[in-house]
Amino acid sequence: MSSYDVIIIGAGPGGYVSAIRCAQLGLKTAIVEGRDTLGGTCLNVGCIPSKALLHATEMLHEAEHNFAEMGLKGKAPSVDWKQMLTYKENTINQNTGGIEFLMKKNKIDWLKGWGSIPAVGKVKVGDDIHDAKHIIVASGSEPASLPGVEVDEKTVVTSTGALELGKIPKSMVVIGAGVIGLELGSVYARLGTEVTVVEFLDAITPGMDKDIVRAFKRTLEKQGLKFILGAAVQGTQIKNNKATVTYKLRKDDSEHTLQADTVLVATGRKPFTRGLGLEDLGVEISDRGQIKTDDHYRTNVAGIYAIGDAIDGPMLAHKAEDEGMAVAEGIAGQHPHVNYGVIPGVIYTHPEVGTVGQTEDALKKEGRKIKIGKFSFMGNARAKANFMGDGFVKIIADAETDRILGAHIIGPMAGDLIHEICVAMEFGAAAEDLARTCHAHPTYSEAVREAALACGNGAIHA
Ligand code: FAD
Ligand code: NAI
Repeated sequence: MSSYDVIIIGAGPGGYVSAIRCAQLGLKTAIVEGRDTLGGTCLNVGCIPSKALLHATEMLHEAEHNFAEMGLKGKAPSVDWKQMLTYKENTINQNTGGIEFLMKKNKIDWLKGWGSIPAVGKVKVGDDIHDAKHIIVASGSEPASLPGVEVDEKTVVTSTGALELGKIPKSMVVIGAGVIGLELGSVYARLGTEVTVVEFLDAITPGMDKDIVRAFKRTLEKQGLKFILGAAVQGTQIKNNKATVTYKLRKDDSEHTLQADTVLVATGRKPFTRGLGLEDLGVEISDRGQIKTDDHYRTNVAGIYAIGDAIDGPMLAHKAEDEGMAVAEGIAGQHPHVNYGVIPGVIYTHPEVGTVGQTEDALKKEGRKIKIGKFSFMGNARAKANFMGDGFVKIIADAETDRILGAHIIGPMAGDLIHEICVAMEFGAAAEDLARTCHAHPTYSEAVREAALACGNGAIHA
């Protein structure tokens, strides 16, 4: 039993980053984690393992499709699924081990076990009760369930099961054309699985810019993914290790079925707050299960804060990290600020999608006068050389002030390119500021500059 300035419950990107910032600011800090390893959803069953499988299968795709044309002859590599999973596990272990090292380096105590808050200023882990002046809840999220769909993590799986399937399925139905469905759907499509994505709405990746949505769907279809849109899944049934998915088309209410070796349920995630004792303390929770906080991540109960997937906002690791730093700085008496208008979103498919700020439709709905600069990667020398000419950069700026309001990229390294625009937006830059910045040739980032030029007098290589 010990006393701390801050105890953080949950060691995902929100919690562990917050712990490090607390320690850097001189606060005596402990972190509680119930898993055997640190890093939360992101490092153990989310961002990192999914990116390892995306990387490995992207290499396979490259070898199968582009090597011969570059004069690299020979048999395309065959897939050793067991080894691919070992590579994924090694990647996880390196990263979770790295977080453990960072905790030790920053003298943060890891209180191992599931924590609860029996009273304000107290955190219980196992039989021990620890004192804390401030408690930060960073307990993250879990997959949302779907009525009629029973997950066994073998035949009907969430993302967690999909990251460790016993074998590569011949067929897969993905329920939900959101980020998880499309990333993991891409992984299996590249491995030869017949992937059908069933989506409730009439478009994939709801909320994204319409030009991206159109181009993205086309690209994924070229890669073999099939889409059934406007379809409400009624339920699944498992028989002889095969699943049947029943869905109704919303346009005419007709009922259909699909059979598959594996069904991936990817219809969103919900906050995970079970067992913390928040209800008994009177901490306010929204209808969607999110812990309610103010701008400084304070709940309605003094001394208890919350961040990350457990509160409102996009369920993204970097959003959780930013909140983790901000809550620590606030506790230490500083005046931090997270700019929710400039949180990038990236989908790590091939090609990648990177977005920041507002979409064309949202701005038009607001009645805002805008101009759009678009540039295709077909006009980018580097992209063409690397078989990456599919896609474009779209920058949206205010028609009068030229201030950048949003950017949407589908193409090579979109997830990295987007950050140039994030920085520009943080500085309140105009499209002309980007357009007048010299960009090295030949780089993908020239496409960003060209899109900025297209907001003004015109792109050069269009
Ligand atoms: P979490 O990472 O969920 O961590 C919470 C931790 O708290 C968990 O380890 C949990 O065990 C622990 N915990 C909970 N309750 C208790 C308790 N009572 N006592 C002790 N410990 C407790 N986001 C991105 O930005 N980029 C991506 O590429 C990306 N890919 C993803 C891929 C997949 C398949 C999934 C599922 C998610 C992905 N995400 C991605 C989302 C990202 O993982 C989350 O947004 C992020 O992990 C949220 O961080 P967090 O710290 O709020 O919570
Ligand atoms: P999501 O919210 O991105 O997508 C869910 C999709 O399922 C939506 O398109 C929705 O319309 C659809 N849907 C909902 N109910 C349905 C039904 N009954 N039938 C058919 N379709 C239905 O959620 P997802 O993909 O599960 O991801 C969860 C979270 O994890 C996201 O918030 C995302 O931010 C995060 N994540 C982020 C990644 C990244 O940043 N690259 C990667 C993976 C996850």
